[in-house]
Amino acid sequence: MLNGKIAVITGAGRGIGRAIALHFVQNGAKVVVNYRSSITQVEELLETIKNAGGEAIAVQADVSRDEQAKELIVTAVKQFGRLDILVNNAGITKDNLLMRMSEADFNSVIDINLKGTFLCTKYASTVMLKQKSGKIINISSVVGVTGNAGQTNYAASKAGVIGLTKAAARELATRGITVNAVAPGFIETDMTDHLPDKVKEASISNIPLKRFGKAEEIAGAVSFLASEAANYITGQVLMVDGGMVM
Ligand SMILES: NC(=O)c1ccc[n+]([C@@H]2O[C@H](COP(=O)([O-])OP(=O)(O)OC[C@H]3O[C@@H](n4cnc5c(N)ncnc54)[C@H](OP(=O)(O)O)[C@@H]3O)[C@@H](O)[C@H]2O)c1
Repeated sequence: MLNGKIAVITGAGRGIGRAIALHFVQNGAKVVVNYRSSITQVEELLETIKNAGGEAIAVQADVSRDEQAKELIVTAVKQFGRLDILVNNAGITKDNLLMRMSEADFNSVIDINLKGTFLCTKYASTVMLKQKSGKIINISSVVGVTGNAGQTNYAASKAGVIGLTKAAARELATRGITVNAVAPGFIETDMTDHLPDKVKEASISNIPLKRFGKAEEIAGAVSFLASEAANYITGQVLMVDGGMVM
């Protein structure tokens, strides 16, 4: 499915990013695993990939910092000679009610989730434009479409990611580059682990498939959009949410 492709995945030390990295490797890609702080998890992931006969390197970079995002892409190209796939997955939440949300918490969520996606897309597309090919997949969220109480910063960042996806898709289409978004619903990772049981139960009652999704189920959708099977798909938002939003 992704044989010989070179992929950068941001925030890939754990959670959804890790599952995407593993799925890509299982499908024949060589991966650049970006992380900010999860060094132990990244070392374990590199070992797992190596044992499975795959090829990967790890690059520490804070995607919200211009120079570091640039260095991430430059390092990937130095190592593998080209760049076929970028997955903008790195993301954080800092939930609070609107009235209590600090400017710092609003800014940091926008900086990592939205500006990080912009910076990595900017530097990756420079490489892809020269190659006249590439696939960019941005991880948004269902709440970027529906909104969610207590998440004005996060919902704004994820809605912004959808706008960025569509604008970039239009800008890059003539050069053989597709840009799509995946919008996960509730997925079992550290991000949702801390939710109180009451909130989890209420969320599940609103999911037609009656369960949280698994990170591997997001990885499958991302691999599809990164593959040649999706060559004629661009500017789209694929909901992977057990039917929550339809
Ligand atoms: N889980 C869900 O239910 C859900 C639903 C919808 C959308 N999403 C989206 O899916 C993506 C992955 O979420 P997840 O559930 O896997 O979350 P997670 O388990 O909390 O992992 C977040 C990842 O983002 C990385 N990260 C955070 N800030 C970063 C930065 N400045 N630079 C580089 N990497 C950074 C973290 O790296 P370090 O550990 O190295 O700091 C970590 O690998 C996010 O964009 C999230 O918004 C998740």
